[in-house]
Amino acid sequence: MATTITITGAGGQIGYALLFRIAAGDMLGPDEKVRLRLLEIPQGMGAAEGAALELQDGAFDLLEDVEVTDDPAVGFAGANLALLVGARPRGPGMERADLLAANAGIFGPQGAAIAAHAAEDVRAVVVGNPANTNALIAASAADGVPAERFTALTRLDENRARAQLAIALDAPVRSIRRVPIWGNHSATQFPDISHATIDGRPVADALRERVGDVRTWLEESFIPRVAKRGAEIIDVRGSSSVASAANATIEHVRDWVRGTDDWTSAGVVSHGEYGVPEGIVSSFPVRAVDGAWQIVEGLELDEWSRVRLDASVAELVEEREAVRALGAL
Ligand code: NAD
Ligand code: LMR
Repeated sequence: MATTITITGAGGQIGYALLFRIAAGDMLGPDEKVRLRLLEIPQGMGAAEGAALELQDGAFDLLEDVEVTDDPAVGFAGANLALLVGARPRGPGMERADLLAANAGIFGPQGAAIAAHAAEDVRAVVVGNPANTNALIAASAADGVPAERFTALTRLDENRARAQLAIALDAPVRSIRRVPIWGNHSATQFPDISHATIDGRPVADALRERVGDVRTWLEESFIPRVAKRGAEIIDVRGSSSVASAANATIEHVRDWVRGTDDWTSAGVVSHGEYGVPEGIVSSFPVRAVDGAWQIVEGLELDEWSRVRLDASVAELVEEREAVRALGAL
């Protein structure tokens, strides 16, 4: 047996950073064979076919076979895992509504193709932006597939937050835990340190010794740095994050399939937890248990945190309304 994994946008940058790590066993472990389905649009087929040739040349023990296609029915056939990376980037002069419309035209049909052709246990993570709302669109087009099987990537935001705390505290990143991201994968996201620990001690206490007034540091430095890190990478690198996004995607799927021993973050469908409107795909603190994400419930959110979560959720609600107005939900 092998796990069938469909990667959309496989000819793109993140696709190229994902494929070889998956084939090497970084995502599902050293004992799990994989079948890769590389789904592209016609313009991306050459790049995906080239990556498939290189996958052959990698002679990966775990790689059963690779198929490259621009037909979603073929691309999603038998998929146990769908990594939805391909998306329409914002072009010059494109408004947010145009971006939502273009992506609704991709993620609606892909959700329907997943419902029609993927394996019964299919699980999908949306990386392509706007990731949360694209996941919502795909889930609502996937008749018969539980909405909980569609998620959006916010693990990169969590990794960024943990890394910034590690730098501020001059500590190894592995010592920092429980830094959930709430809300949207956008500049409104709320990276929350109120439950974070460093080697078991509250991060807030350790920060006080380093930065003085913690709230000012969060407002003026940490939150904007994390929430706008995608834009910072684009400025410095000249194109959006790739290897770190692929790494986070691998961690998201690995944890979902194999389980977590602590909290992490993922964009998952809300059932009304923490007052987030039902049906929205929002990032929450989550655990993975028996192959399913569970939202960590019962956390205290003070007024300062609540305002930030509400602002990001309001943006998600606006995106949902815009997509509804387009008839895509
Ligand atoms: P890229 O332009 O290099 O690659 C995208 C690929 O998708 C292209 O090869 C394109 O041909 C393909 N594609 C477009 N429409 C498709 C469709 N309908 N079906 C299949 N393939 C399709 O972009 P990239 O750098 O790989 O980034 C991909 C997406 O990931 C972007 O939307 C980017 O904004 C997003 N992203 C998200 C996160 C996150 O944390 N959620 C982080 C980084 C990037
Ligand atoms: C990121 O977070 O790096 C991506 O979503 C790219 C972006 O546009 O911010």
